[in-house]
Amino acid sequence: MEFRVTKSPALTAELIVPGDKSISHRAIMLGALSNGACCITNFLEGEDCLSTMEAFRKLGVQIEHPEPGTVIVHGTKGRFTAPTSEIDCGNSGTTVRLMSGILAAQPFRTSLVGDASLSKRPMRRVIEPLTQMGGRLHADGATGTLPLVVEGGTLTGIRYELPHASAQVKSAILLAGLFASGKTTVVEPAPTRDHTERMLEFFQVRTLRNGNEITIHGGQTLESRDFRVPGDISSAAFWLAAAAARPGARLLIDNVGLNPTRTAILRVLITMGARVREIVENVTEGEPSGAIEVEGRKLHGTVIEGDIIPNLIDEIPAIAIAAALAEGKTTIRGAAELRVKETDRIAAIATNLRAMGVPVEEFDDGMEITGGAKLRGATMESFGDHRIAMAFAIAGLFADGETIIKDVECVATSYPGFEETLRLVRTGKPIRQTPAVARGTVGSSVQRSRSETSA
Ligand code: S3P
Repeated sequence: MEFRVTKSPALTAELIVPGDKSISHRAIMLGALSNGACCITNFLEGEDCLSTMEAFRKLGVQIEHPEPGTVIVHGTKGRFTAPTSEIDCGNSGTTVRLMSGILAAQPFRTSLVGDASLSKRPMRRVIEPLTQMGGRLHADGATGTLPLVVEGGTLTGIRYELPHASAQVKSAILLAGLFASGKTTVVEPAPTRDHTERMLEFFQVRTLRNGNEITIHGGQTLESRDFRVPGDISSAAFWLAAAAARPGARLLIDNVGLNPTRTAILRVLITMGARVREIVENVTEGEPSGAIEVEGRKLHGTVIEGDIIPNLIDEIPAIAIAAALAEGKTTIRGAAELRVKETDRIAAIATNLRAMGVPVEEFDDGMEITGGAKLRGATMESFGDHRIAMAFAIAGLFADGETIIKDVECVATSYPGFEETLRLVRTGKPIRQTPAVARGTVGSSVQRSRSETSA
């Protein structure tokens, strides 16, 4: 499958994005660990989260899926049954890394496998701390890669300083800490998304934050809770960047998660010259959510580095497109983690931007993008990476000629309704979108041509 995109004349839209991927994974996991039934709504029907759902079914957890976006998890209080075969985590790093923390404490052996991309990603980062806790894990892959074999063990709390800022590794350790004797403390070099901590609190488990340290005491019970997942700001990012970089564009995204560890993209777009308003409407289930409004301007380049990086790591492909459309240079440093995401995102962004006529200098830990030249349509790879595919589809909305992005099936990992929304946005007509379309479950009930939505 490929996306074929041509220039759009305008952007006036009111969009709803599907449920947050990070939070959907955690809702299944913590629901499964809890002591009863948890009804999760606005669950992301993306392949990554479905991998997590199937993984817990394999561990003996009863999970109902009565309708799209609704999942009922019947928690087993952290007691699972041995799977009869290996667990396939698909493309999902979050599934494999967070589950390794839970499985390290189970009295059986599990083998975690994944697709070609996940099979290249580093797993020593979870093996190291979980082994220190007493877990028995090894990576069967030659370079510390999948299959990850986890043998049950008796865990003891540790204090662990993360060598790299990583929410997945932090979460794996905290989840293992639930099963460990004593206390487990994770020290973060820079703040990362804190959904695990917030959701644990929501499920009545106490965690303690002291500066950059998070502590959890083992042996606590998760009380079952219903949970509504807010929209995913990382999916919103593509539209936010597209609106910010188009003078005169107006965009409203409603029902989106506004957790401060995820909203750094808004600060960057403001620094680049866009008008952005964030309206927190709810703090339900421990997660702030609300609306984001963007008015597009002629953007200018900026420098993105330091502690902000982990809070916008997934948004860098979208930000790179805004940078290409901005006047002057944008420099991104301290983002070497991009090299070990679903693909090497630094190389992928540089290759595709250059194909569109944008000068890019690549560094080990980032890139410098010289913006302002006209983008020209080109044929390019997604590199099997959902965020690369979506970022360059957005770039195509600004390019002369046709932009073709190949192998875009990967978009289904995080944003099943993306293609339909892209089709609407490309027309340049005012859009008001319904939740079902944004989830990718209904293709026909889109209301268009409501110019008042931009007022
Ligand atoms: C995630 C954490 C981030 C992010 C990933 C999802 C999570 O990775 O890039 O898409 O849900 O915890 P890190 O572990 O590198 O922070």
